[in-house]
Amino acid sequence: MSHGEGFVPYALPDLSPGEGLERVRQFRVELEGRRSVRDFSTQPVDVALIEEAVRSAGLAPNGANLQPWTFVLVGDAHLKAQIRAAAEEEEKLNYERRMSEEWKSDLAPLGTDATKAHITDAPYVLVVFEQVHGINTDGSKKTHYYVKESVGIAVGFLIAALHKAGLATLTHTPSPMGFLRELLGRPTNERAFVLLPIGYPAEDCQVPNITKKPLEDILIKK
Ligand SMILES: Cc1cc2nc3c(=O)[nH]c(=O)nc-3n(C[C@H](O)[C@H](O)[C@H](O)COP(=O)(O)O)c2cc1C
Repeated sequence: MSHGEGFVPYALPDLSPGEGLERVRQFRVELEGRRSVRDFSTQPVDVALIEEAVRSAGLAPNGANLQPWTFVLVGDAHLKAQIRAAAEEEEKLNYERRMSEEWKSDLAPLGTDATKAHITDAPYVLVVFEQVHGINTDGSKKTHYYVKESVGIAVGFLIAALHKAGLATLTHTPSPMGFLRELLGRPTNERAFVLLPIGYPAEDCQVPNITKKPLEDILIKK
């Protein structure tokens, strides 16, 4: 089908169904090895690995291709300490006052609390901002579409790419996250979406012994 100007040819690698199945199985097995890590080593990370993963995130599908995201990579120890202190302040209030009993009981198997050592132990913290709207060259607001959906998909790509690079991360949301915009000097059209400490797991790292739902519980075929 020809669309005319502004379009380019597109094709996928010519795989047999068997080859496709083998590849997608292999990808699933790789993803089975991904876990949220909360105990990080201080072992340095080559920043090129993270840059490459952010490139992958930037390839995600998104509303009208306006790419409503900003990734802020923090390696500075002082700034990480400031982020940790502010995150722990919010998390203390969350655990002591804001979370429902049901929420705390759902979190119990994960063994989390208001202490967030991963923010200072991990060599890098990547903060993902959603651009709630854009800004036109004349300073007026530019509408962005499906911002949360778009940024969520980009973060999915990012997490998978970090895992592929042999790095560990945690999807962390020390809400409310307004402090991140302030500490990182971001403009008011940006809102912190998620914070990801990035590094290698600590030598004695453990993760919760949780399971994922089987296919028959998540897929309905009609
Ligand atoms: C949107 C989102 C927010 C999350 N926020 C936190 C958080 O603030 N702190 C935390 O320890 N884990 C957080 N998690 C991680 C989940 O607890 C974790 O993904 C879940 O328990 C499944 O474990 P797994 O990632 O090892 O498969 C969050 C995950 C998502 C997707």
